[in-house]
Amino acid sequence: MTFTGKRYNFHDKAGDYAQLASELEGLLQGEPDLIANAANTSALLFEALPDLNWVGFYFLRGAATRSELVVGPFQGKPACVRIPLGKGVCGSAAAKRSTIVVPDVNEFPGHIACDAASRSEIVIPLIKESTLLGVLDLDSAKLARFDEADRQGLERLAAVFVAASRVES
Ligand code: SME
Repeated sequence: MTFTGKRYNFHDKAGDYAQLASELEGLLQGEPDLIANAANTSALLFEALPDLNWVGFYFLRGAATRSELVVGPFQGKPACVRIPLGKGVCGSAAAKRSTIVVPDVNEFPGHIACDAASRSEIVIPLIKESTLLGVLDLDSAKLARFDEADRQGLERLAAVFVAASRVES
């Protein structure tokens, strides 16, 4: 496997996210391991997307209750390990099973500050065959870093990750 580290300028967000989705498909092709794929997905996104200070995964854990997110592979500063479902941006997106875009984290009640530099955030739930696997979380030190085009593009990338990866029981 050779990774070229192609950079995108995101002047054409839809086009660049489409190319990045193809690149991610190639990177994950033939590998079903959830953790390996999460590691390479976070590395690719951190490399490719401008103005990120954290990108990574939280997975739903706790066999009986499945009520807690636990940090998975990521790029950025060390992060909070456990987030209860319904708490913070991650726990809220997981509980609602829908993407949350936060233009200003100081305006989001209950936001959990892992890296004090973070100013805006987007969290995408990861759902495979109706099962919530966890969330993909991206943070930026820029206010309002993520717009509707980012939401659509990142949901597409999350779908590529989910399709490639096997659900752990
Ligand atoms: N800010 C997140 C916590 C995770 S860190 O950003 C990596 C939240 O409020 O859920």
